[in-house]
Order: sequence, then C-alpha cells, then structure tokens
Amino acid sequence: MHLNTALAWSSIAATVAYASTLLPRQTTCPPVWSQITQELSGAFEGGKGCEQIARAAIRAAFHDCFPGPGFCDGSLLTNNEIDWPVSRGMEDIVALLQDKVARYGVGNADMIQFAAAHAIRSCTDGPQSRIKIGRTDSHTQGIQADIPQASFTADTLLASFAARGLDHTDLTALIGAHTCANQFFEDESQSGASLDTTPGTWDITFYQQVAEQSAPFTFQSDVSISRHRDTAAIFGGFAGNVTLWEEKFVPAMEKMGMLGVTDVDMIDCTSALPHQPVVTPPEETQE
Ligand code: HEM
Ligand SMILES: *[C@@H]1O[C@H](CO)[C@@H](O)[C@H](O)[C@H]1NC(C)=O
Repeated sequence: MHLNTALAWSSIAATVAYASTLLPRQTTCPPVWSQITQELSGAFEGGKGCEQIARAAIRAAFHDCFPGPGFCDGSLLTNNEIDWPVSRGMEDIVALLQDKVARYGVGNADMIQFAAAHAIRSCTDGPQSRIKIGRTDSHTQGIQADIPQASFTADTLLASFAARGLDHTDLTALIGAHTCANQFFEDESQSGASLDTTPGTWDITFYQQVAEQSAPFTFQSDVSISRHRDTAAIFGGFAGNVTLWEEKFVPAMEKMGMLGVTDVDMIDCTSALPHQPVVTPPEETQE
C-alpha cells in the first residue's frame, strides 16, 4: 500500500515538474535544418568528392570545439576567432555559416557541427555521424593557444586531447580527417599541397602515406602521432583497415562535437543530413 502510494505520488510529482518547468518540448528536428542541408549540398559537393569549402567546414568543427572556456560554443563565428593566425583558410566557410545562422535563426555552435557532419558526408565514401542540435552559444572569445599546431609533438597533443576527454584512439582517429585536407599556410611555398594524394576521398590513404612519407605534404604532428609509443599501433591499424578507422572516427567526431555541451533536451538531427552517400555524377562530356 505504502509502496504503491509512494510510486503514484512520485509519478504525479514527476509529471507536475515536467509540465511546469518545460515548454512544450520539441522532439523532432526542426525543418529548417533540411533547408540548410540543401544549401550546404550545393556548396560542398563537387564532381570529385568534397570541395575546398567542405574541407574547411570539417576543420572548423575542430577549431570551434578546442578552445576553452566554452569549447563547442560557436565562438569561431561570433567572436572574431577567425582573425587569429591559426584560423587562416576558414574565412569563406565562416562567412557562409554566419550567413546561414542569420537567415535561418539557428545557433552558431550547432551550425558549425552540422556543417562538418554534412561536409564529411560530401567527401567520396564519407561516413555519416549522428548530429544533435541544441548547443548554447557563447559570446566570450576562446583561448587561441588551445588550438593545436602542426609543430606540436604527440606528447603535447595527447595531453591536450586527454584534457578534453579524448583518448589515444580518438586523437589518432580524428587526425584521419586530414584525408580530406590541403595546407595553405604551414608552408606557403607549397600552398595548396594536399595531405594525401586523394583529398576528395574519405579513405586511409592519408595514414598509409604519412607512414611511408609519400604524401604531397605531411605535418610534423601527424608524423609524431604515427611514431609515438602510445599511438603507433593504432595508427598502423587504421592504415590497414578503413572499416576500423571509420568505426573509431565517427564516435570520436561525435564526442568532439559535444565538448563543453550539456546533453539535455538536444534534438537528433541526423535525419536532416544527406541520407545517401553523395553520388558523384559522371562528368558531362561534350563532344
Ligand atoms: C591533432 C591536431 C591537429 C593539428 C596540429 C592540425 C593542424 C592542421 C593544419 C596546420 C592545417 C592546415 C591549415 C593551412 O595551412 O591551410 C590543417 C588542415 C585541416 N585539418 Fe587539421 N589539425 C589537427 C587536427 C584536426 C582535426 C581533429 C580535424 C577534424 C576532425 C582536422 C581537420 C582538418 C582539415 C579537414 C583540414 C583541411 C582544411 C583545408 O583543406 O582547407 N584537423 N590541420
Ligand atoms: C577491420 O576492422 C573491422 C572492424 O573492427 C573488423 O571487423 C575486421 O575484421 C578488420 N579486418 C581485418 C582484415 O583485419
């Protein structure tokens, strides 16, 4: 009797609390994200996988999430972090995403992570990750020194990632995003050099070519991770198995996209991402 009463009371209390503290709760992804996805598809997908602006979108997710104190807080778009020297190369994607935020009234932090998930999908063979919406934007500029640099050693990078709850496997998997990357400012005499020979394709060529030192351009940081006692075996595993890499990359990317975010009342918007892998249309030949 007592137990039943207690149970009945607690469920009434829960209902009352729910009704009084929460506005009608949205549980399905707002349709605006499907409109945004259509526009992003137009911007990101070239004839041969992800275009330059899509690659910059993937990088932007990392740059928004790493600087404290807010982590994934949209401050790349809202607080002039684009003016930092380490942000060079992301001006176009930042302008594009600022425009979407202004026109559709969505959050800056959400816009950045959504665009990155979409951009990864726009690379040939790009996987789909889960994307949740509902981050809180910040209006405090982040700490520029929190952005890892290509001259950093694996020890420094491991510590920086660990401080954010990202482990050895997460770090080693996340740098695999350099499979769709060019560099412009690390060595300006080789501006435009790609980090593997297939920058439009989401593949393990990056890991293989860093290991063999045969990529057009390689960062010291990536070499260091490929050789460090704590990451070399993981790196080698990814170089030999694309399935294994994707199995580790996707959750690591999702984890990175939630740094500093409280996962309360977030809405799953995975359904608004392109459902099908982007089918590359055969290039038109005119004869
Ligand atoms: C481990 C630490 C990392 C370092 C030191 C690093 C460093 C760099 C540097 C120096 C560039 C070239 C910028 C330029 O000169 O144009 C770059 C490009 C890029 N990075 Fe990273 N990165 C790291 C991790 C990541 C992560 C975690 C991601 C995403 C998951 C990422 C995605 C990219 C992409 C997609 C590009 C290419 C951008 C383009 O082609 O415009 N990087 N990174
Ligand atoms: C590659 O990785 C997947 C996923 O972990 C695993 O199931 C598969 O056995 C691996 N393949 C090889 C050849 O090791």
